[in-house]
Amino acid sequence: MDAPSNLPPSRRRTFLLILAGGLGALLAGAAGWPLLRFLAPASRGGAEQAVSVPRAAVAAGTAHFFQYRGKPAVALQLQPGEYTALSAVCTHLGCVVQWQEATGEFLCPCHGGRFSPAGAVLAGPPPRALEILPVVVDGDQLRIG
Ligand code: FES
Repeated sequence: MDAPSNLPPSRRRTFLLILAGGLGALLAGAAGWPLLRFLAPASRGGAEQAVSVPRAAVAAGTAHFFQYRGKPAVALQLQPGEYTALSAVCTHLGCVVQWQEATGEFLCPCHGGRFSPAGAVLAGPPPRALEILPVVVDGDQLRIG
């Protein structure tokens, strides 16, 4: 797009400055939108974000890892018919914890943090327990979230 040639030079300069500013704002918006989407927290709430896990996948004494709202989570059967679900993200620096079947604990491989099956801190640097996720038994499924 050319500046109108019948305008005096000062108005033509103003027109070009406005045009350049508009294009700059448009490009900044186009480049910044993906960054804003990445940095914005995920929307919360809503049954549509609940995750279903087959009860059969959560045998007693084992841990079933799955994705919950884009992050690792884990479901356990603590007692027969008693289920719990936890975030599998360590509360220290965010590594993914691992289930230690031999000891019945979670171990964080990054700095040795240890958590109980209920998510409580047993040892190491984690400042808080693992986040507990709500679990509802729904037939042969666990509805988590
Ligand atoms: S990130 Fe888990 S103990 Fe450091």
